[in-house]
Order: sequence, then structure tokens, then C-alpha cells
Amino acid sequence: MTAQHEEWNSQMAFIMAMIGSAIGLGNIWRYPYVLYSNGGGAFLLPYFISIVCMAVPYLFLEYAAGYNFKTSLPNMFRRVQSKFEVVGWFISLAPFLILTYYIVIIAWDFIYFFLSFYHGWGSNPNLYFTDTLLHSTSSVSGLGDIILPILGSLIVLWLIIWFISHKDLNDGIGKYSKVLIPSLMIIMAVVVLIAVTLPGASIGYSALFNPKWYSIYDPHIWLVAAGQIIFSLSLGWGVVSTYASYLPKGTSLVKNGIVVTIANCGFEFFTAIGVFSILGYMSFVQDVPLRYLVTEGTGLIFVAFPSIFNEMGVLSYIIGPLFFICVLFAGITTTLSLLEPITLGISNKFLIERKKVTTALCVIGFLISIIFATGLGNTLLTIFDNFLSNFIVIFGIILECLIFGWLYNIDKLLDIVNTNAPFKLGKWWNYLIKFIIPIVFFAMWADGIIKLIADGSTVAIAVEALITIIMIVVPVILTRKPPAPRNSK
Ligand code: PHE
Repeated sequence: MTAQHEEWNSQMAFIMAMIGSAIGLGNIWRYPYVLYSNGGGAFLLPYFISIVCMAVPYLFLEYAAGYNFKTSLPNMFRRVQSKFEVVGWFISLAPFLILTYYIVIIAWDFIYFFLSFYHGWGSNPNLYFTDTLLHSTSSVSGLGDIILPILGSLIVLWLIIWFISHKDLNDGIGKYSKVLIPSLMIIMAVVVLIAVTLPGASIGYSALFNPKWYSIYDPHIWLVAAGQIIFSLSLGWGVVSTYASYLPKGTSLVKNGIVVTIANCGFEFFTAIGVFSILGYMSFVQDVPLRYLVTEGTGLIFVAFPSIFNEMGVLSYIIGPLFFICVLFAGITTTLSLLEPITLGISNKFLIERKKVTTALCVIGFLISIIFATGLGNTLLTIFDNFLSNFIVIFGIILECLIFGWLYNIDKLLDIVNTNAPFKLGKWWNYLIKFIIPIVFFAMWADGIIKLIADGSTVAIAVEALITIIMIVVPVILTRKPPAPRNSK
């Protein structure tokens, strides 16, 4: 059975799938904190400059590569030079590994969605989250303690991902993104509108945007801004070029890219107002300075918010479930995109149908994700995330800029970006891809390595070594395996 390269049946399907990939935990739990703790309103300056000078130009590179080659990432790199196929597998494998723990966070959220109807986290949400739910420990013996509610939630989520991904592109990812993303936007709008009317909301959002201008002189903040927007727009993980490879001829890449960027950044900005209004409310009712309440990540969603809902009375039974459903929808559409690069890679090279590839990958992914449903899960998740999203992914971005910028015909990619574009990009784009972006990411990478070495426990170093081995061995095996003969039935 030959695997045909599929095509989006509408611009809307592509745009919704791209927004679905972009809007995720990065927008809901990361951006508000990053904005607040890196200069507040002043952070918007490096953030906008990063969008214009780094994120959007890099987004166009991934679009142009996908649209030009109309194939999977490993195949694209092989066409540049056969020895680079391995880089394509390396970049495609990273999101798959990330998926195995990202889905666990969504599984926690799914449990919290049910808990939010009756404040099932009790009067001490911190204790509930770390002890009662996660049985969290940093001892290796925690691996033997599989937590059944998380396992159950994980099974449901893997089934959802499998159900959507195993269908053809338009019946699966396209169709479900078109439903989930508008629903997510409407529900989040309701959450934010409720949040800004809470007493004390203005304490939160005015502190969020209060500009600390001296912070823009700190080079670290510029790296944080670039890192945030790259993560938020799902760049560097092969997702964008994979989705763009399904675009039909005649598409305006520039127009699409701008719509996706505005939707993603608008969403995170708007969500930050909601998140900080809710924190402002807590500051008001408990008379605690806001800075003691501000957290990010799991601490925000699974500890701070439940504590606030405990104080809020009747309204919390509305805003709570709505909030957790937003995270669920944002998470599902993101996980779909994390599976896609490796799915397309395998199905293209070995000519295996999407159905079979996604089924096998979901089983393997599920088996790996069980380690994050154990008592050691939370510790492992942090190590995996620090290593993969700070280190491996940034390395992938640098390689991609160097290979497409220096070893392929960058002018050809520029022409592709400019086809059907409402305005044309100039030669400056080539320089950004060839010099500026790899240099900035190299700085970010070096900064990441220093932090990684500085706080590396023995467990962390062992796990990072294991991930590095997997990230080398699996791409080499997949590269070495001969492709299926093209003309077979
Ligand atoms: N953009 C996603 C988020 O904000 C994360 C992500 C990065 C997803 C890269 C896919 C690829 O949560």
C-alpha cells in the first residue's frame, strides 16, 4: 500500500491545526509568568522584537521548507544531502519524546477537570497535588509505584490522540482542530471576562503590565523573550514544516503565518490578563502581596488556582471547570502536532499507512509515558523537559538554520515565501536565517548548558545521558534502514 502525501482540504483546516499546535501550556501557564518576572510591560519590547526578527522569519523558513519539499523532515534533509537524513529523524524524534510527558500533564488536568466540580483537592491543594495525587518522590524506588488514576486518565488521552490521528489528515487533525480551537477561544474569553470582574483583579493585571524598564538592559531577558516565542509558536520541532508540507499549491505562506502568529500571541496576552486577574483576586481577599502568589507551571494550575477556587464560592464551580477544559483542549491539539513529524517520517520512508504508524506510535508512546505516571514521574518529567526543550530542540533549530541557510538554496526558499505574498521579504531574511538566528540560539544553548551542568543531580545526569543515547541511536537506525521500494503495491 503506498502512502500518499496528504493535503489540507481548506486553508481553515491548516490554520486551525497550526493554532492548535501553537496554543498550549506555553500560552497558559508559561507566558503570564515569563511576562511578569522579566520586566512586566517592559518585557513586551524584547518580546515584539523577537516576534518580528526571529520567530516570524523562522516560521517562514519552516513553512517554505515544508511547502517546497512536500514531504517529511527526514526526506527533506536527505534531498539537501543524503547524510543529513539523520538530522531529520533527530528533529522528528524530539517532539515524540516530549509528547510522552506533555500528555501526562494533560492527564493531570483531565483529573482536575472532574475535581473542580466539587473541589476534590480538599483544603490543602499543595498537599493533594504532590502527595495524594502524584505520590511525588525523588527516590528511584518511586518507579515501582504506578498511580492508577493517572494511568487511567492517560489511557483515555492516548485513545483520544490515537482516534484523531489515525484518521486521514482532514477527517482527523483538520476536522477536530476546527472544532476544538474555536471552542477553546470562546471558553477562554468567558474565563477571562469573569476573571477581570473579580474584586482585586486590577491588582493583578496592573502589576503584570507595570513596566520595569531597567530590565531591558539585561541580555538574559532578550534570550528569554526569544525562547518564549519560539516555544509558543511551536518552532524548531519539525511540527510547522510537517503541517506546511500538506499545503496545496497557491497558498500564501506569509498571510497564513501572520494569522497564526497574531492568534497565538493575542491568545497568550489575553490569557495572561485572566490569569493575573485571578491572582489579583487572591491577593485582595487574603491580603497577601501579589509577588508571593505568582508561580508558573504545575504550581500555577494545580496548586495556586485550586487554592483560589477554594476561596471563591459559587463562581468557582463555573470558572474552575471552564479553565481546566481550556487546558485540556489546548493540550489535545498540541499533542496531535507532536505526533505528526515522526508519523509522517515513518509513513513516508517505509510506505506504511498513517493508521498503522499512529497505532504503533501511540502504543509505544503510551508505554513510555507510564514512567511519568509513577511516584518518580514528576521528577523525571522535569528532567526530560529541561533537557529536551532547552537543549535538544534549540540544537535542532541551529542545525536547521545552518543546513537550509548554507547548504541548500536559501534564495529559492525566499522566492517560495514571497510567492502570493501580500508584501515581499527582502534579502535581509537570508541574513537572519544564516547568521542572526543561529547566533542568538547558540547563545541560548550555551546558557542552557551552563544551567544544566550547574544543577545536575546524579539522577538527572543519568537520565540525560539515556535521552542522548536514544536521540542518537534511534535516528541512526531509522536512517540506515532501507526505504520501502517505491513501486510496491
Ligand atoms: N506551542 C506549544 C505550547 O505552547 C508547545 C509546542 C512546542 C508544541 C513545539 C509543539 C511543538 O505549549
